[in-house]
Amino acid sequence: MTKSPDTPLKFLVFLGSARNSTPPKPPRLGLRVARACITEINQGIHVAELVDPLDYELAPSFKPHFAYAHGKAPTQLESLAASIASADGYIMVSPEYNHSMSPALAHLLNHFGSSLFSYKPSAIVTYSAGQWGGVRAAVGMRAFLSELGCLPVSAMVHIPKADEVLGEDGSFLGSADAQGWKQYFARTFTQLDWWASAARQQRAMSNSQAPVPAFTKAPSQRNTP
Ligand SMILES: Cc1cc2nc3c(=O)[nH]c(=O)nc-3n(C[C@H](O)[C@H](O)[C@H](O)COP(=O)(O)O)c2cc1C
Repeated sequence: MTKSPDTPLKFLVFLGSARNSTPPKPPRLGLRVARACITEINQGIHVAELVDPLDYELAPSFKPHFAYAHGKAPTQLESLAASIASADGYIMVSPEYNHSMSPALAHLLNHFGSSLFSYKPSAIVTYSAGQWGGVRAAVGMRAFLSELGCLPVSAMVHIPKADEVLGEDGSFLGSADAQGWKQYFARTFTQLDWWASAARQQRAMSNSQAPVPAFTKAPSQRNTP
């Protein structure tokens, strides 16, 4: 279905933490970061939905959505696949675990093929309890998200000592420079908004036909002859 230009843009906010343990404290610092993203992207214009890895019961043996016959994947995977396909862009919220992106986020995303994400932009938002804000995770996320087809916009959000910046409800704490943080988020989310609007128009013009078809059987379909 082609969306009219007036239909609000829909963004999925992927939360990259499934951690339910302390120490280190606090657990699931990412939840407040994801909530802040929803507030900052929304601004009463767009639709932003949280995707929480804890809501998905993924089988211990890995079988991605695209490995099932069409429409035959478990209900939760089908439902998330439909949501990814209907979104205009993605906000990927990740902590830094051992200088890398969240394994929970990578695992959830690996369940879906690039054709669902392609021709739409993404924004990288990282955080940490320490002083670097997850920048080392963000470097790897650029490559990951590019391969997934949802090219990350150039600006990124990094939040060091996120528990000193955000309260549990995702609002900026009184001790934080709320105005400065809002402007910082806005830089990335303005780029995301711009590219998401542009990509939606281009998808509508190409009648929802992907200019390059997704490979269907094996990655070798895109290799050199
Ligand atoms: C397994 C593990 C690895 C971590 N590695 C890093 C790291 O490389 N860099 C960093 O700044 N913080 C690291 N931390 C600390 C996290 O920034 C902190 O625990 C944060 O709260 C994690 O996000 P979460 O609470 O949403 O899971 C690590 C934490 C865990 C549990």
